[in-house]
Amino acid sequence: MCAAPIGLLDSGVGGLSVWREVIRLLPDYPTVYVSDNAFCPYGPRPAEEVIQRTKKISRFLIDKGCEMIVVACNTASAAAIDVLRQTFEIPFVGIEPAVKPAANLSKSGVVGVLATQGTFKGRLYLETSKRYAAHVQIIEQVGDGLVELVEQGLTEAPRTMELLHQYIDPMIDAGADHLVLGCTHYPFLIPAIQKIAQGRIVIDDPAPAVALQVFALLSRKDMTPSQPTDPLYRFYATGTHNSIQALYGRMAVRDMASAQFFSHLNLT
Ligand code: DGL
Repeated sequence: MCAAPIGLLDSGVGGLSVWREVIRLLPDYPTVYVSDNAFCPYGPRPAEEVIQRTKKISRFLIDKGCEMIVVACNTASAAAIDVLRQTFEIPFVGIEPAVKPAANLSKSGVVGVLATQGTFKGRLYLETSKRYAAHVQIIEQVGDGLVELVEQGLTEAPRTMELLHQYIDPMIDAGADHLVLGCTHYPFLIPAIQKIAQGRIVIDDPAPAVALQVFALLSRKDMTPSQPTDPLYRFYATGTHNSIQALYGRMAVRDMASAQFFSHLNLT
């Protein structure tokens, strides 16, 4: 296998929810993933800081031979996707909350959106919800604390369930029949959310649509072979690699030998 690797970035392990959809469609494609967990969470940080971090990571991924980068983070896409596209010549694929399909499919006319502060403030979300979801009532909820719990692997811990109840119960009480996951960490909370929602809400995760977009771009663009990669998947963390390695193991989509993990990536 010697195609140019696909680069992915996130503030932490959340982008793995996008990565697993990408490799589902492109199982033998090499990937290089950067978890910026030394700076996690991105949500409360000023947009300018997120732009600087994602620029540095993108430069690193391009140096590693990536010819396409997936910004597998809603917050980073909201803050930085325009700048990244202007700064670098390779294609960038971003992610935004799936408000449009949720609004179109909602029967009750009430849609809940769980996302970070940075994502709610971004142009992508504001424009999409104004253009495609003006006919429904949107209940916005910042998921404070959830990213940190997912980073620790605490996807069904008492504190996680408590926060999810606090965020989701009022949406259900208000009649929401769709819940848009506006942060790539949240798909790892789907089993916990399902326990709370008891079938009363449809969960919308845009990750499969992002993977389709990657697939379509690769098919259109001639991604010529550049450097052979072994192992197939490389994961870099700016902090320690423990959380990403643990989640990779738990997902069990590929064997451990397909992946290599690096800690304390120093981006200057
Ligand atoms: N996975 C990121 C997102 O989709 C997490 C945000 C954060 O680090 O706060 O927004």
